[in-house]
Amino acid sequence: MSIPKLVVLLSSFLSVVAAWDIHNHNHRRACQAPSRNPKSGCDHNKTLYVHQTSPTADFRSVQAAVASLPNNTNTYIILIGTGNYTEQVNVTRSGPTYLLGQTTSPKNYKANTVNIIWRQAALLGDNAYTSTLTVAPNLNASLTGSGPTGFAVPDDTPFGCVDFRSYNLNFINDYLPYSATPSLALSISRANGGFYYTGFYSYQDTIYVGKLGNAYMRGGEVAGQTDFFYGFGTLWATQIAVTLRSCGGGITAWKGTNTTFPNKYGVYITDSTILAANSSIAATIYHKCPLGRPWNAQHRSIFARNYLDDSILPAGYIDWSGRYNNYTLQAEYQDYGPGYNATARAASNFTKVLTDREWEPYSSAKKVFGHPDGRLGWDSWVDYDA
Ligand SMILES: *[C@@H]1O[C@H](CO)[C@@H](O)[C@H](O)[C@H]1NC(C)=O
Ligand SMILES: *[C@@H]1O[C@H](CO)[C@@H](O)[C@H](O)[C@H]1NC(C)=O
Ligand SMILES: *[C@@H]1O[C@H](CO)[C@@H](O)[C@H](O)[C@H]1NC(C)=O
Ligand SMILES: *[C@@H]1O[C@H](CO)[C@@H](O)[C@H](O)[C@H]1NC(C)=O
Ligand SMILES: *[C@@H]1O[C@H](CO)[C@@H](O)[C@H](O)[C@H]1NC(C)=O
Ligand SMILES: *[C@@H]1O[C@H](CO)[C@@H](O)[C@H](O)[C@H]1NC(C)=O
Ligand SMILES: *[C@@H]1O[C@H](CO)[C@@H](O)[C@H](O)[C@H]1NC(C)=O
Ligand SMILES: *[C@@H]1O[C@H](CO)[C@@H](O)[C@H](O)[C@H]1NC(C)=O
Ligand SMILES: *[C@@H]1O[C@H](CO)[C@@H](O)[C@H](O)[C@H]1NC(C)=O
Ligand SMILES: *[C@@H]1O[C@H](CO)[C@@H](O)[C@H](O)[C@H]1NC(C)=O
Repeated sequence: MSIPKLVVLLSSFLSVVAAWDIHNHNHRRACQAPSRNPKSGCDHNKTLYVHQTSPTADFRSVQAAVASLPNNTNTYIILIGTGNYTEQVNVTRSGPTYLLGQTTSPKNYKANTVNIIWRQAALLGDNAYTSTLTVAPNLNASLTGSGPTGFAVPDDTPFGCVDFRSYNLNFINDYLPYSATPSLALSISRANGGFYYTGFYSYQDTIYVGKLGNAYMRGGEVAGQTDFFYGFGTLWATQIAVTLRSCGGGITAWKGTNTTFPNKYGVYITDSTILAANSSIAATIYHKCPLGRPWNAQHRSIFARNYLDDSILPAGYIDWSGRYNNYTLQAEYQDYGPGYNATARAASNFTKVLTDREWEPYSSAKKVFGHPDGRLGWDSWVDYDA
């Protein structure tokens, strides 16, 4: 046998015996690909299959599969078959929990085949009850509360999932097709979550990253109208589509908190596009959408290297009714496109354009995430290769 043939044989043998790895794109692609035996290509010992009708499915709903998992440190994978699931999903367990949508195009969120849909607004009670997906150890951890510091989460509340992930899923809160009180698609608190090629669709308060919540997003979409990235925790979103379904409040409305650990809490949106949902909405929001407004004095947000269409307010950020003009930071770094008016930004009292040196401490996900014990750079749960 020739040496090259031997190498091929050896490497295919090694790839068979090597452990299934969520970070290995080929392993994940094989698991997500629809097939007659849906779990083929998956890590068999750890994977549950959800489908509404298939006889091979372990569960008919996502939440039934999540609820079956023990609260331990083991890793579990839930493969979700093509379909529209009307349900709320609530992940409280602490071990790694990975939700995968079935797809033939794992790098294209527009080809996602799984929609998880809920329709609820916070007419009575806390915003927490409305969310399509919740990742938090218990109800207290996920409550928004009110006032500048929000709900006083008891100190003895445990940390929830250390490594939650969603690949190729859409989470939708379709309460009404416009802003009509908070209607969350994602609520994550006291937990770490990675959202890859994942779409979140609502109108008001689409994304909530609550206290001690760390969220990383890559390659998906977030659609909304009013304050649709809000919270107390830390969100790093990169290479996503931010879709303006109209505008109200700001794109971001962060509170920030310093009652916890010294990570760089705030919302960071980088290398993304910020565009009107379509041309008819674009005509009505020309130069109207603020990048953000400070929900309390610890608001911190940075938009970096994004393409902005002309929906964006020329001044960038705004104040919130004169309430909090001492926010921590409302900033931009190298944004561009017709929504970036350098003259109007410079004249604004609420937008700070960062220099290279000022951007440097925030310039990567690694630099902004923190650990409950105070260490910085706790990002082992992030799939940078997705
Ligand atoms: C499944 O678990 C069994 C028993 O622990 C082990 O022998 C086998 O290698 C595992 N298979 C995979 C694909 O991890
Ligand atoms: C899910 O709902 C959407 C919108 O109603 C529809 O276009 C799509 O075909 C549905 N998907 C499945 C798998 O039923
Ligand atoms: C899960 O286990 C952790 C660690 O033992 C504990 O702190 C937490 O309260 C448990 N969560 C649930 C939902 O039971
Ligand atoms: C999620 O489940 C936990 C444990 O059952 C429960 O305490 C909590 O209320 C649920 N969260 C929401 C937002 O319903
Ligand atoms: C939730 O917080 C309240 C205090 O605000 C406390 O009385 C209650 O025991 C907490 N519940 C849980 C399950 O920790
Ligand atoms: C444009 O987007 C808005 C906001 O999502 C939606 O209400 C409207 O139906 C869309 N119009 C078209 C023509 O798609
Ligand atoms: C947050 O609190 C820590 C610990 O008290 C302190 O070192 C840090 O400077 C504070 N950060 C901000 C932004 O206030
Ligand atoms: C920040 O602004 C708030 C609201 O105006 C005010 O209550 C607070 O005292 C201010 N903090 C500082 C440090 O100026
Ligand atoms: C940018 O903003 C300035 C100051 O508000 C304004 O005079 C100018 O017309 C704007 N430029 C464009 C291209 O909109
Ligand atoms: C910025 O604040 C100063 C002082 O309060 C005020 O005179 C000026 O008009 C403000 N500029 C803008 C663009 O709002």
